[in-house]
Amino acid sequence: MTQRVALVTGAARGIGLATAQLFLEEGWLVAALDRDADELTKAGQTLGQGASLFTADVSDPHSGAGAIADVLAKFGRIDALVNNAGVADFGPIEETDFARWRAVMATNLDGVFLMSQAAIPALKETRGAILNIASISGLRASTLRVAYGTSKAAVIQLTKQQAAELGEYGIRANCVCPGPVRTKLAMAVHTQDIIDAYHDAIPLNRYGTEREIAEVIVFLCSERASYVTGQIVASDGGFDSTGVGLPALRG
Ligand SMILES: NC(=O)c1ccc[n+]([C@@H]2O[C@H](COP(=O)([O-])OP(=O)(O)OC[C@H]3O[C@@H](n4cnc5c(N)ncnc54)[C@H](O)[C@@H]3O)[C@@H](O)[C@H]2O)c1
Repeated sequence: MTQRVALVTGAARGIGLATAQLFLEEGWLVAALDRDADELTKAGQTLGQGASLFTADVSDPHSGAGAIADVLAKFGRIDALVNNAGVADFGPIEETDFARWRAVMATNLDGVFLMSQAAIPALKETRGAILNIASISGLRASTLRVAYGTSKAAVIQLTKQQAAELGEYGIRANCVCPGPVRTKLAMAVHTQDIIDAYHDAIPLNRYGTEREIAEVIVFLCSERASYVTGQIVASDGGFDSTGVGLPALRG
């Protein structure tokens, strides 16, 4: 049987690396893409056989499209594209200058649009899947996330657009919204106070793990989810469901 190929962006560490690992465990081949060549080389040692490494910047139309061509030259097919590469830059609205706003949008939103567009011909061939990583911050507004939260909310809508338009080619598009996970990205912006407050506000009372997010991603890319498209799935310990989730209202 032909082995399926997953292209995972931002695969050098964190959620992307865990996702690449799980795809390999489930018998897929993996194209691991990141713009950080050194980290990617280290990840390659962890991933071992079955994974090929591609250095590219998803926010650059030429770099991203070039990487898709390189992946096709190496593997001949793409069955799943996981748009996981993301950056976090939290700050008040008045201090978010245009350069900071654009830097967040360039990777988190433009990158998802560009990589998906470049992969469409290959995904038509395989009737493959797009899986976009947004965030709980795309579902719930919060202070300091004017750029990050808005970029992730746009990714949620972009996923629905992709599902609506690409379904006729058999291409599915879904979105996973992680709650907080202790990755380098999160730890750069989460103080101990923020960590404690998250624990209070999340029904499962803890952060998630990279592996728990990867399980949902790989499931949605797999045949087991063959009739699921256009869905936004929060993997967040129940954070999105809480509404008036005041710790003081707990019994
Ligand atoms: N960690 C969390 O708490 C959390 C919560 C919700 C959503 N997310 C989302 O999950 C995804 C992965 O986050 P993580 O926590 O694993 O982050 P991370 O910082 O640990 O890893 C992100 C990887 O993406 C790469 N990357 C960034 N910009 C890139 C670009 N333009 N081109 C190519 N590679 C690029 C980085 O080099 C890095 O290796 C992101 O989209 C993030 O917004 C994370």
